Amino acid sequence: MTEKRALELVAKAIQQQEALGLGGIRLSYDLINSITPPQPRRMAAKAENLEEFCNEIKDCKKCRLHQGRNKFVFGVGNPNAKVMFVGEGPGRDEDLKGEPFVGRAGQLLDKILAAIQFDRTQVYIANVVKCRPPNNRDPQPDEMAECMPYLKQQIELINPQYICCLGRIAAQALLNTQTPLGKLRLRWHEFEGRKLMVTYHPAALLRFPEYKRDTWEDVQMLRREYDAYMAK
Ligand code: URA
Ligand code: URA
Repeated sequence: MTEKRALELVAKAIQQQEALGLGGIRLSYDLINSITPPQPRRMAAKAENLEEFCNEIKDCKKCRLHQGRNKFVFGVGNPNAKVMFVGEGPGRDEDLKGEPFVGRAGQLLDKILAAIQFDRTQVYIANVVKCRPPNNRDPQPDEMAECMPYLKQQIELINPQYICCLGRIAAQALLNTQTPLGKLRLRWHEFEGRKLMVTYHPAALLRFPEYKRDTWEDVQMLRREYDAYMAK
């Protein structure tokens, strides 16, 4: 890495910390590891940095959703994942357990993952909002705006090559668009230099099983890209 690039990354890291309202300066592990690169350390460092970030934000009270919170639902999976799935927000089961997608929708997500030979230990799973909206209502724009920097920082730390948005809320939030879900499917979008795709939310599939076939096709597109990338 050039000195100029390193300085750019330092500047970006500082801006991100400030945007998150965090004091002090923590450099991204990508930057640190580019200077001292041993592989196993890099992987452990990523996990540690994610855990540290979770601890920093888990008592967040920036929006009203903290009022009904049992557990902050940070995310789960492989800190070194190449593929990250992003849902909407915790439901009842997730709020109780502190883990995303553990209820019925989560069981369906496991099947979707299995259909493309992935499991939870290989990918990373998180949500746009980390606290449960009351009665599972949609997260409101101001709640998503407060929580979005957390998701962005998670994405930076995990550094996945691919992001798969589960449902309209995640897709529209990450792509900053009002375009309906159906018009966002079946093609690759870009999110901060990463490839992003969109499919139906597993909870929607529970209500409308006729969308399952489309979903299975969507995730095949993801698997094909992933295989091509890994073969490079
Ligand atoms: N629905 C979501 O969007 N996320 C979860 O974690 C569970 C259900
Ligand atoms: N309609 C939605 O709003 N979301 C889905 O995931 C599917 C249908």
